Amino acid sequence: MSTNTTPKPEEAGLLRGRFSEATDAFVEAFTASVTFDQRLYAQDIAGSVAHARMLASIDVLSDDEAEAIVNGLHQIKAEIEASQFNWQIPLEDVHMNIESRLIELIGDTGKKLHTGRSRNDQVATDIRLYLRDAIDELAQLETDLLEAIVELAAQHTGTVMPGFTHLQAAQPITFGHHLMAWFEMLHRDRARLLDCRMRVNQLPLGAAALAGTPYQPDREFVARELGFDGVCENSLDAVSDRDFAIEFCAAAALTLTHLSRWCEELVLWSSQQFNFVELPDRFCTGSSIMPQKKNPDVPELIRGKTGRVNGHLIALLTLMKSQPLAYNKDNQEDKEPLFDAVDTLHGCLTALIGLIPNIKANVNAMREATLLGYTTATDLADYLVRKQVPFRDAHELVGQAVQRAVAKGEPLEALSLDELNGPGQNVIDEDVYQVLSLDGSVAARDHQGGTAPNQVAAAIERAKTRLMQG
Ligand code: ARG
Repeated sequence: MSTNTTPKPEEAGLLRGRFSEATDAFVEAFTASVTFDQRLYAQDIAGSVAHARMLASIDVLSDDEAEAIVNGLHQIKAEIEASQFNWQIPLEDVHMNIESRLIELIGDTGKKLHTGRSRNDQVATDIRLYLRDAIDELAQLETDLLEAIVELAAQHTGTVMPGFTHLQAAQPITFGHHLMAWFEMLHRDRARLLDCRMRVNQLPLGAAALAGTPYQPDREFVARELGFDGVCENSLDAVSDRDFAIEFCAAAALTLTHLSRWCEELVLWSSQQFNFVELPDRFCTGSSIMPQKKNPDVPELIRGKTGRVNGHLIALLTLMKSQPLAYNKDNQEDKEPLFDAVDTLHGCLTALIGLIPNIKANVNAMREATLLGYTTATDLADYLVRKQVPFRDAHELVGQAVQRAVAKGEPLEALSLDELNGPGQNVIDEDVYQVLSLDGSVAARDHQGGTAPNQVAAAIERAKTRLMQG
């Protein structure tokens, strides 16, 4: 596979002035990134435009030269967007492909663009620009999904369903309250993304290869042009670290982990055994053999896709681990995991934005399920506490009442006062039956964070305000 012939210098290829042989064909393909980093073309061109303008502002380029470069770059952008651009693997990456086309288009002036710059600060800038925009888009999708949850929850502030611990029916809650738990999870996820954005949105350009550049670059100028909040403080760090991408993947992995939990619930709830919700037909698929099947493929797939984003997080952590300063080629491997994490999260959020507003809650099935499993037993204990029975004794007495109910195959509220009280006891009165009712149980959790319908309604109002505040 290796080639040992010594080429004439002009045949040696790009950036090979100091070499006496051309790049091995396999190595050329192995080290190229253009097949995947061409995705950064718009960011690369925006960065180059800002860099050229800055070079003109500090008189390294003439205004005419800068204008020729900017026009050439705009033309290249148009060619790429019209699929008329000839991407070439021997040109290695998006940066060299665009630069060499620029030289082809405008001649020697194009060769001046790379003054005071390296691909090391160039690529770091491109990824940060890309990720900043991706975060903005993802955060908007999260906002849309949060709004969809709030809307569905508002329709179900009084819809009773069983709340679970250990997946065993535990206490009555409202469906609206459950949905607002999802809201809180995703709201934190969005905050994490936006927090990460602050550290993404810092400008590496000016760092050049690693040490800075002797041209006195006006880095603030470039930062303003590109909408960065500030410039990276240290040139070595600027070209080297990808912690911002790791942080994003961590936030994405955690979001997907949350989404996988919701999706697991949707899969369970839409099964015949639960029958709490119905998913829209257009979000489900059939079976190739069982004609009756309606499979919740979309939530299942979101649950599954969590694995790949978790994998990307580990990939990036491992990529960065033990890398000496400053730039190393390892960092070229940051892109595919990052892109896929963005795409996967984007797809999952989009799917749920379509799905959530179209979930049909089977209100009666939820209520009936809540009647099973003695979910108001804690309410009976709390009732006894209000009658001065110490909680641990109350717990014991109610346990015995549940045992009697189980033996009769009846719910607690079907027991007579004598049966509820048990032998020799009479603390429990007629007023217990309201306490044992599902609606009485949820209404009693009447404090901020509780499941009482009026509290859920208030939480929804606060959630709307929080969303409006951004
Ligand atoms: N394609 C490279 C990357 O993604 C660009 C930077 C290359 N720099 C270098 N000195 N080889 O990281």
